[in-house]
Amino acid sequence: MISAHPKHIAIIMDGNGRWAKARHLPRLAGHNAGAKAVERTLKAARKYGIAFITLYAFSSENWSRPQEEIDGLMKLLSKTLQDYTKTAAKENIRLWVSGEREPLPPALLTQIDEAIAATAQNTGLTVNLALNYGARQEITHAINAAIAAGEKDISPDTLRRYFYHPDLPDPELIIRTSGEERLSNFLLWQAAYSEFYFTPVLWPDFDETEFEKALAAYQNRSRRFGGI
Ligand code: IPE
Ligand code: IPE
Ligand code: MG
Repeated sequence: MISAHPKHIAIIMDGNGRWAKARHLPRLAGHNAGAKAVERTLKAARKYGIAFITLYAFSSENWSRPQEEIDGLMKLLSKTLQDYTKTAAKENIRLWVSGEREPLPPALLTQIDEAIAATAQNTGLTVNLALNYGARQEITHAINAAIAAGEKDISPDTLRRYFYHPDLPDPELIIRTSGEERLSNFLLWQAAYSEFYFTPVLWPDFDETEFEKALAAYQNRSRRFGGI
């Protein structure tokens, strides 16, 4: 049976550093090229009518990188957000962010809040940026929030109401580039029944053709959800 396109695709955008290293460039050049791949991918997602796309942009563990790389990434995020706000208005894109606010730079947080507010009424593709995101953090955040709200006897459905975005459907498809085959603390709960697509392509080389390959692979999966 041919399944419909996924409603929600989540991407672990990995391999920027290796892409740069292969070209004897600084790692930040890889991240810059990665930002262009984001643009191409969002265009492809719109073309195929995908409703939600989550992009793993910075993990809770990425703070362990050299300060220079962290600063460069924060600057790039700010610039990308600035450029993309115009596209979002034109293309009816809604921006969401998943992750903890602390210790992101206050100026970036203000910019994010403004972009979220400016696009909140848009009804096209929802781009959910996983920023300072960790799945264990999201789950413990939800448990603490549920307790604080006085919830007793927490069920999976109760817990979901306290995730960063309760209305975000689970991703049917999770893509990871660069040949690594692990989740790296990404969407541990939501990935319970996701299909995985791993490709050796480095994130800065990802484009519409690679996106189509992932969609085609998804079409060939048989999803049983424990049934037969
Ligand atoms: C992914 O690329 C981008 C981020 C984690 C921010 P990497 O920077 O992890 O690239 P590699 O894995 O070192 O090649
Ligand atoms: C995962 O990539 C995080 C992002 C893509 C933002 P990493 O490169 O940080 O993951 P590990 O360290 O190889 O597991
Ligand atoms: Mg990596």
